[in-house]
Amino acid sequence: MKDAFLSLQKEATDTFKNIKETDNRAREAWRSLYVGRKGKVALLMKQLAGLSVEEKKEIGPIANAIKQELMQLFKTHDARGANARIDMSLPGRIPERGHEHPLYQVMDQVISVFLGMGFDVVEGPEIELGYYNFSALNIPKDHPARDMWDTFYVRHGKEEESVVLRTHTSPVQIRAMEHRTPPVRLIVPGRVFRHEATDATHGSNFFQLEGLVIDKGIRVTDLMGCLSAAMKGLYGKDTTIRLRPSYFPFVEPGFEVDISCMMCGGSTQPPYQGGGRRDGGCSVCKRTGWVEMLGAGMVHPVVLKNMKVDSRKYSGFAFGMGIDRMMMLAYGIPDIRLGYSGDVEFVRQF
Ligand code: DAH
Repeated sequence: MKDAFLSLQKEATDTFKNIKETDNRAREAWRSLYVGRKGKVALLMKQLAGLSVEEKKEIGPIANAIKQELMQLFKTHDARGANARIDMSLPGRIPERGHEHPLYQVMDQVISVFLGMGFDVVEGPEIELGYYNFSALNIPKDHPARDMWDTFYVRHGKEEESVVLRTHTSPVQIRAMEHRTPPVRLIVPGRVFRHEATDATHGSNFFQLEGLVIDKGIRVTDLMGCLSAAMKGLYGKDTTIRLRPSYFPFVEPGFEVDISCMMCGGSTQPPYQGGGRRDGGCSVCKRTGWVEMLGAGMVHPVVLKNMKVDSRKYSGFAFGMGIDRMMMLAYGIPDIRLGYSGDVEFVRQF
């Protein structure tokens, strides 16, 4: 019986040696023939049952050792075989490369246009004092104009003590002028927050870009020239702008600035009057030929005073635009919230 085990051991080892390293099929056949559940070793071991206790004690351990040894033989070579199967000439898996979020792509474009016009980039805190967000900008407490900004309060209280999530980038105008004297040309990109119910065109957080120019003799025509050049830089040289009167507490006069529609080029199809058949027309400008782009105006004398700028010597203009809206127009994105969904499938498209 012992000899039977020893000769089986020799037979198995010899046949294994003759199998080529790469021949997985032959190795698997060997495994099943010798150490498989119904293999030769298992069959021989079954015969141990008929032996006397003495014989079992002697041969049992030998049989087990042989079985272990053969299984080990297969395993070691299997591991080596597995390594041999790695094809070093295959190209590796290239890690996926990310890219900028569409919001930042648009933001960077706007920034680079203004950098080209000699503006500096300034940033300010997202958690802001009520003073900078409101009162220094000529929006007194309890003034109805505050309702223009639905505000997240971090700390309610007296104006000097109140803390808010900034509702616009305008407070950075005031902060920046604490360390500067005119002439200045600044832009302020950044995240802002509004306490409002979200829908396709309203987010509770979004991005703005603010601008501030102060110098001697700055007039509305400078505002128009500057914004016209910037919009041409962004949307092409045929782009034109128009100003409509509007109200913002920190400017006087204040304007809403529209640009000729970047989609239809400002074609003057009449707006839909009801009845008949809709003939399509531009959905971006709703067939008005104009797209709302910025709030702007001449810096209010009270704001200049809060900046410690002498309004008899200096004047300036300011403007603010929504980056999300520009992104939506540029890429035809229908819902502002998509930009904040954290969905890579969304981001990958741009
Ligand atoms: N801060 C305004 C807003 O969030 C936008 C704005 C309008 C900024 C007019 C300005 C400006 O600097 O002059 O609605």
